[in-house]
Amino acid sequence: MTVSPNAEGAGLRPAVLADRGQVHAWLVKAYESPFFCVEQRPPSREEFLADYEELFFTDRSPRQGRVFIITRDGADTGAVSYDARHHGPGRADVDIWLAEEALCGRGRGGAALGLLWPYLRGRIGLRRALMSPCARNLRAVRCYEKAGFKPLGYLPRRELERRYGPLDCPHALVMERPL
Ligand SMILES: CC(C)(COP(=O)(O)OP(=O)(O)OC[C@H]1O[C@@H](n2cnc3c(N)ncnc32)[C@H](O)[C@@H]1OP(=O)(O)O)[C@@H](O)C(=O)NCCC(=O)NCCS
Repeated sequence: MTVSPNAEGAGLRPAVLADRGQVHAWLVKAYESPFFCVEQRPPSREEFLADYEELFFTDRSPRQGRVFIITRDGADTGAVSYDARHHGPGRADVDIWLAEEALCGRGRGGAALGLLWPYLRGRIGLRRALMSPCARNLRAVRCYEKAGFKPLGYLPRRELERRYGPLDCPHALVMERPL
């Protein structure tokens, strides 16, 4: 499934295994963003490969998850993924990172998420998307609010993890959006 570019030239293409190294490199770079929590460290290549298994870069198991490359006027500008391995039916975690800081804060994250929803709803049959940014990553939180996500209330971390699984960051905020 390739999402054709919209009027602004934003599109999504399914990531392939050859993209895996680049997607990891973008993620490592994203941790240098001034908005990223200083208490988090980027995943090593081994950790990334263990989490983002091969199935995320093939069409083998779309019900479990996938990575898409965010494109702008044909150029690769970041990655967005969904991961339905850890929640009940109809729900998935979504994550997104743009390729470099200069691309951020220009509405591109929200545009990419807007392209993903029809696919998740129509093709995969998902009903809810979850995101868990660090609460201190104000730009990401704002972007997700604009994209229709609402925080699930400020539950103690232990309770959040009981309900939603392990969280990357000590200040993680779980946000949810109906699809
Ligand atoms: C998170 C990310 C995908 C968001 O995409 P984006 O294209 O940068 O987001 P947008 O431009 O659509 O929206 C950012 C919003 O944050 C706002 N913002 C920027 N700095 C802010 C601040 N210090 N405080 C509050 N809001 C802020 C912007 O004004 C904008 O809101 P507005 O449109 O109402 O003015 C992108 O910034 C990114 O890849 N960051 C690095 C990786 C990352 O943090 N990933 C998320 C991990 S959960």
